[in-house]
Amino acid sequence: MDEMRLFVAIEFSNEVKEGLLKTISDLKSQGVIGNFTRSENLHVTLAFIGETSRAVAAKACLERIEFSGFELTVGGSGNFGDLYWVGIEKNPSLSALASVVRKELLSAGFAIDEKPFKPHITVARRLSSANPPKVFTERRSMRVSEIVLMRSERINGKLVYAPVFRKRLNNV
Ligand code: 2AM
Repeated sequence: MDEMRLFVAIEFSNEVKEGLLKTISDLKSQGVIGNFTRSENLHVTLAFIGETSRAVAAKACLERIEFSGFELTVGGSGNFGDLYWVGIEKNPSLSALASVVRKELLSAGFAIDEKPFKPHITVARRLSSANPPKVFTERRSMRVSEIVLMRSERINGKLVYAPVFRKRLNNV
């Protein structure tokens, strides 16, 4: 099977997405230059798998997960070097879900990135300034009802994410 670059993510409700797009437009209107994340690419990563030919096995890992839906709140923003992020409020359910996903993938033999889980939403990369203005990002909440196995590809220089498999959480 073909090699694919895969990761496991949560996508956002329209309301949360609108808040993220507002942060992006505020950054742009303050003159920040960088590669801004396209609306359809906004997500939070739970586990990064990387290049693999085992998409079927990765899908099976998600199928095995039993986890209840929960609320998540997005808010606040800042930068790690030249990457601008929007934050996610401290959330034990989110951390627990990330560790369940990572454990499944590890036990299926995926060499996933094991850096500590630092949930964030990348809204811009390669900022031209190392000291971008900090913009206000209002709090917005949503219910997390599914996780997504996502494929990342570069098509004509454009980063394109495509869902490969969606796993519905319980009680949602
Ligand atoms: P980032 O936004 O902080 O770069 C797809 O690349 C997703 O996987 C992004 O959300 C990215 O986070 C995340 N990711 C985590 N670890 C990664 C790694 N080692 N290489 C590339 N992307 C990684």
